[in-house]
Amino acid sequence: MDAKQRAGEKAVEFVEDGMNVGLGTGSTVYWTIMRLGSMVKQGLNIRAVPTSRRTEKLAREQDITLVGFNEIEELDLTIDGADEINPSLDLTKGGGGALLREKLVAAASKRLIIVADESKRVAALGRFPLPVEVVPFAWQVTARRLAEDLSCTPTLRLDAAEQPYVTDNGNYILDCACGEINDPASLHRALKLLAGVIETGLFIGMADIAIIASESGVEVIKAEQNIPRIEER
Ligand code: A5P
Repeated sequence: MDAKQRAGEKAVEFVEDGMNVGLGTGSTVYWTIMRLGSMVKQGLNIRAVPTSRRTEKLAREQDITLVGFNEIEELDLTIDGADEINPSLDLTKGGGGALLREKLVAAASKRLIIVADESKRVAALGRFPLPVEVVPFAWQVTARRLAEDLSCTPTLRLDAAEQPYVTDNGNYILDCACGEINDPASLHRALKLLAGVIETGLFIGMADIAIIASESGVEVIKAEQNIPRIEER
């Protein structure tokens, strides 16, 4: 079993009957969804909110009941992947393009559980270019501000046809090389102040638990209690 599968499947231990669960996006949480699907077939009763169209399709195929925020107010927990995880469990997310819905779903959850293989663990965020979701109109202006005001190097994400990648929300993504991110909260705030920026892939103080797997085992890491759990709502 590979590490992503090991981490993804471990996370279902936190899911209890009757829970409302946020379902993340990516190749690690894929394994969580597949395992939840077989538990549902055996009688587990959960309602889930997907963080992307891709996850929605997968969850439907697994007969997982899906709901929207018109039906529920809060989620008991969300399980999602990450692109980078620092020692405080601050995250970079959005490599799969789902960062905006992922952040909204995480912010509506009592707990956020991250599943990853150990390659995602870093001393400092920033090696993985930071995904920033932007309004398509005048994205060039937003990109220029990012470069000139924040010294980041933005690259417009393209799809397989070399056209701008369009998110589930109809926006573009700028993948931003900002160097080593030693103060993720400050960078996040500065980015959010730029006209045209909708959301950043920095998830600060949101993760409660990280389940990190290697070929040899699984580690369950809890966030320190003194770190505010959710920076923004
Ligand atoms: C999706 O937009 C991302 O935030 C994913 O959660 C992240 O890219 C992790 O993906 P993998 O589990 O596929 O590595």
